[in-house]
Amino acid sequence: MFLILGHSCSNFFLVFLVFTVTCFKSCWVLYGEQVQGGDGPHKSATLSSFIYATTVLKPYEWRYISVDLPPWFSSVTIALESSIGVDLKRIGKVSTLPMICFREGSPPLPDVYNTSLTGLVIDRISNSSFGGSQDLQMVEKCYPMQKSVSLMLTNEQIRPGIWYFGLFNGIGPLRTQSKMINRGHSYSFSGNITVEGCTNSAMLGKFCNQTISLLSCSDTYISPESGIANMTPCGGTEESCLDVAGSKVYSLDVVSIAEKIIITALNITFTQSQRSNGAINSSGHSLMCYVRHGTLPQPQLYDYFADINRSPLVIPLPRLGRWYIKILPANLSESTSAIQEMNTTICYSLEWQVLRCPADKAGLNCTTAKYTLQTFLKRTPYVAFESYYLPISGEVSSGSASFPLGPLLSNSSDGDYTWTFFLLDIPDGAAGGNIHVRVTSEAKISGEIYARYGGFPSLSNWDYFYSNSTSNSNGSMFFKLYDASDKSVSFYIIYARGGTWGFGLRHPISNRHSSTVETTMSISLERCPEKCSSHGACKSVLDSSGLTFYSFCDCDRRNGGFDCSVELVSSSGIC
Ligand SMILES: *[C@@H]1O[C@H](CO)[C@@H](O)[C@H](O)[C@H]1NC(C)=O
Ligand SMILES: *[C@@H]1O[C@H](CO)[C@@H](O)[C@H](O)[C@H]1NC(C)=O
Ligand SMILES: *[C@@H]1O[C@H](CO)[C@@H](O)[C@H](O)[C@H]1NC(C)=O
Ligand SMILES: *[C@@H]1O[C@H](CO)[C@@H](O)[C@H](O)[C@H]1NC(C)=O
Ligand SMILES: *[C@@H]1O[C@H](CO)[C@@H](O)[C@H](O)[C@H]1NC(C)=O
Ligand SMILES: *[C@@H]1O[C@H](CO)[C@@H](O)[C@H](O)[C@H]1NC(C)=O
Ligand SMILES: *[C@@H]1O[C@H](CO)[C@@H](O)[C@H](O)[C@H]1NC(C)=O
Ligand SMILES: *[C@@H]1O[C@H](CO)[C@@H](O)[C@H](O)[C@H]1NC(C)=O
Ligand SMILES: *[C@@H]1O[C@H](CO)[C@@H](O)[C@H](O)[C@H]1NC(C)=O
Ligand SMILES: *[C@@H]1O[C@H](CO)[C@@H](O)[C@H](O)[C@H]1NC(C)=O
Ligand SMILES: *[C@@H]1O[C@H](CO)[C@@H](O)[C@H](O)[C@H]1NC(C)=O
Ligand SMILES: *[C@@H]1O[C@H](CO)[C@@H](O)[C@H](O)[C@H]1NC(C)=O
Repeated sequence: MFLILGHSCSNFFLVFLVFTVTCFKSCWVLYGEQVQGGDGPHKSATLSSFIYATTVLKPYEWRYISVDLPPWFSSVTIALESSIGVDLKRIGKVSTLPMICFREGSPPLPDVYNTSLTGLVIDRISNSSFGGSQDLQMVEKCYPMQKSVSLMLTNEQIRPGIWYFGLFNGIGPLRTQSKMINRGHSYSFSGNITVEGCTNSAMLGKFCNQTISLLSCSDTYISPESGIANMTPCGGTEESCLDVAGSKVYSLDVVSIAEKIIITALNITFTQSQRSNGAINSSGHSLMCYVRHGTLPQPQLYDYFADINRSPLVIPLPRLGRWYIKILPANLSESTSAIQEMNTTICYSLEWQVLRCPADKAGLNCTTAKYTLQTFLKRTPYVAFESYYLPISGEVSSGSASFPLGPLLSNSSDGDYTWTFFLLDIPDGAAGGNIHVRVTSEAKISGEIYARYGGFPSLSNWDYFYSNSTSNSNGSMFFKLYDASDKSVSFYIIYARGGTWGFGLRHPISNRHSSTVETTMSISLERCPEKCSSHGACKSVLDSSGLTFYSFCDCDRRNGGFDCSVELVSSSGIC
């Protein structure tokens, strides 16, 4: 650690500081308060509170603030004051604009592509600016910096996890150029960030009054509806009765990569309490199931839904993490007043199953090959904490960062194409690194590469992909393609978040026996893309918690851009 800090602090213009708001359970004792709500007492407490002292940002400097939102957080309050007030009607050059950016899981980097400036929202930040999109490709949001920012974001709007706020005083290629001449204005900011949470993890929601039933997975669970080829289910059943106007929320943790989640309602009975006093024809009723990853489903915000009175809800290739399941007897978008009058009680037995293929197989039919890649630290790293990933296999020598693909490719196929999957883990502390993927071949490359955070990718479900030079995730802020020729592919996923990543190769089945053609692949975690294009130095720094390690390019005077690939006209100093 000393070595790293020594290295990075040798840079006089070290501006890359990260402050982390951490949470300790003991905060509850100190700050706990009772909130009286309509339905009796429920508790929320200040989990953490951080005062950010006045800080000056010179032109092209930036700061990151990270905020850890635990799964039981209820809201985060952000109050910032700055010496600058941008007149939203007179925005001229975006490159000199003071900005605030938000990103989940990794630090924002608004100038990876200058096309990403189209992602800039020229408007005031408001509480309603958040929520909805979970698209990793685009999930960064940037706003012009305001004189005063006051936000209260609830767990209905943003998901738990580590959120990064970036304050930038100008973006674009000049930001990373060696700052011998500083033009433009400095600004200062100060702020407070407070995280509120629910004191009981079985009570969540904005008001900490939503009861959550925790579903757990029993490995000995045998589904009554067995016969799902090759897959081992874990799951269970739970019986519940609901008033027609009521609802029930469950949570289910997916702790290792799975192929499917199936949610089924069994033994559904609709009982009219007052009049007929008996079972009624249930085919006209709905039992709606809304599912959302990471946070509670809302009327318009959910990932999957089905009427489980009619058919089970199937979630293919679910992401790792906590899934929230909301059951309610009526379609959320129907009028509830008409339904309330029916005085009906619905009883059902909820069955949940998480299905997995055997260890070396994957896919909805368990027919494709899967490899869990092992991490190897680079022996002579360019900077610290660089590593590469190799399949655990006798044919692979750990001396080389690349491995031959031929022997690994899936043999069986349901069509012309098949998949081969790779899983790898990015340590949380390395979330400020970039995943570098390379494929080189003696012949024309005929496969495609898909990447997905927390699960297996599929044709319809990926975070980044490469198909060919014209069809790829180019246009995403965090996908950077450097080589797309016939025989070699090289791309980076910029500032990849920590956790499990799934990579899928989609390739023609005929590839497997053309063993005379050598195709190799390498996946590595690197600190600065393309070693700053040989036009700069890769600087690194640990955040204040000492847990996350970030890198950025500090470019020569004539170059700029996040990877120093942009040549700047030095005579005028302006590009
Ligand atoms: C992006 O940057 C390149 C190189 O600096 C420049 O040629 C191009 O015009 C820029 N595009 C946009 C949309 O600003
Ligand atoms: C967001 O909500 C909080 C609390 O309700 C309020 O104090 C604040 O002014 C709101 N901010 C904006 C920008 O709407
Ligand atoms: C932050 O909190 C301090 C002390 O509670 C207060 O003096 C300051 O005005 C607050 N700053 C903002 C931006 O709300
Ligand atoms: C939680 O409290 C809010 C406000 O008091 C109320 O509108 C909401 O219906 C309550 N939710 C539940 C599930 O009790
Ligand atoms: C459904 O009901 C039948 C008979 O009433 C019972 O045998 C069965 O165990 C029930 N299934 C579940 C999952 O509760
Ligand atoms: C229930 O209602 C549907 C039409 O709404 C009808 O087709 C079906 O036969 C009824 N079932 C029973 C058991 O009455
Ligand atoms: C729920 O209601 C909406 C709008 O009325 C409708 O489009 C949707 O199909 C309904 N869903 C089900 C499962 O009935
Ligand atoms: C439903 O129940 C309430 C009281 O529980 C009663 O006042 C109302 O008349 C009932 N409605 C019907 C349609 O039975
Ligand atoms: C799984 O097998 C079924 C039937 O054999 C086939 O229709 C389906 O396309 C296969 N799905 C995948 C993802 O391979
Ligand atoms: C593919 O088949 C060959 C021979 O049939 C076998 O040696 C090889 O291990 C298989 N590869 C995979 C990934 O299943
Ligand atoms: C690139 O891939 C897309 C879709 O996979 C295809 O339509 C297009 O023809 C390909 N382009 C080239 C140049 O191969
Ligand atoms: C990425 O897209 C931009 C414009 O959308 C284009 O100019 C550039 O050539 C593309 N890069 C690659 C490698 O396809």
